[in-house]
Amino acid sequence: MHLLVTGAAGFIGSNFVRYWLRHHPSDTVVVLDALTYAGNRASVPDGVEFVHADIADAAYALTGVDAVVNFAAESHNSRAVQDPQAFFTTNVLGTQRLLEASRRAGARFHHVSTCEVYGDLALDDPGAFTEESPYRPRTPYNASKAGADHAVRAYHETYGLPVTITVCANNYGPYQFPEKVIPLFTTRALRGLPLPVYRSSANRREWLHVDDHCAAIDRVLHDGRLGATYHVGSGVEASVADLAVSILDRLGLPRDLIETVPDRPGHDRRYLLDSTLIRSELGWQPTIDFEQGLTKTITWYEENRAWWEPLLDRAAVNEGAWA
Ligand SMILES: NC(=O)c1ccc[n+]([C@@H]2O[C@H](COP(=O)([O-])OP(=O)(O)OC[C@H]3O[C@@H](n4cnc5c(N)ncnc54)[C@H](O)[C@@H]3O)[C@@H](O)[C@H]2O)c1
Repeated sequence: MHLLVTGAAGFIGSNFVRYWLRHHPSDTVVVLDALTYAGNRASVPDGVEFVHADIADAAYALTGVDAVVNFAAESHNSRAVQDPQAFFTTNVLGTQRLLEASRRAGARFHHVSTCEVYGDLALDDPGAFTEESPYRPRTPYNASKAGADHAVRAYHETYGLPVTITVCANNYGPYQFPEKVIPLFTTRALRGLPLPVYRSSANRREWLHVDDHCAAIDRVLHDGRLGATYHVGSGVEASVADLAVSILDRLGLPRDLIETVPDRPGHDRRYLLDSTLIRSELGWQPTIDFEQGLTKTITWYEENRAWWEPLLDRAAVNEGAWA
């Protein structure tokens, strides 16, 4: 198979390229990325063909491509509060342009979406989002990702484009930009700086190791039903306050490095995905234990300062700037 992987200078996409070449060494991969502040050429494995372009202008890169895997997005909720337009431009219009180019090129389209399209759950809600749950996005990032999902489904229904969507829980692992909570806390702790925890610190997220996410996309690309959406989750939840404590404890640092900052507007309380469908239909399940995966991830940031230190100047948002 010949894959075009968009957004693969970012966190999940670059891990996906490494995963794919490890598991499918006879396949070929082209990476396409606009190299926004979140994209990093150093995350793309050596020897992989790289196209520096926006997904809105990707048509010329689609010749001979069997499948497009679309990770490209503006992805940071906090930044979306301050610059929502960039999110709608890439996540909605950019995705539509890429869908159109895929249709013309006759390529299969796999789209990577997020649990955040459903809005949030109460902290004590016994339920979880299913693939049938209504979309209720509450932030510009969530709304732009929801818009992209609708566009992907419309291209399937209207033009018969062979599409699949995976909706995933929060990912963690190596090569994640140090603006997101686990690398943010880890890289700040490693520099002896305070960890900024929002006032509603009990808000929880469901955590999945990025390699488990990549394995799920692999299952869907090979055996997923065209037109279907599959949830990808671990069922393992941890609050931001839990994470701050775990990271400080693992690094042998005092817990008084935790600093409370004002909540982000529209900060969702909780997301949890019911991922029964992918488990029963495609036999996927997560394989990486959260405690072990977190320890390994922290060790990766300790050992790879040369990867993240140059990125610190690029961090786009001062958390709490909206207060
Ligand atoms: N990180 C998570 O926990 C998570 C969970 C579920 C779903 N997702 C989704 O997975 C995808 C990847 O997330 P990530 O965490 O790796 O994000 P990321 O911010 O690390 O990477 C995004 C990449 O997209 C590129 N990009 C941005 N705009 C572009 C454009 N117009 N054209 C081409 N490239 C562009 C950036 O340069 C960057 O390399 C996103 O679609 C995100 O919504 C992420």
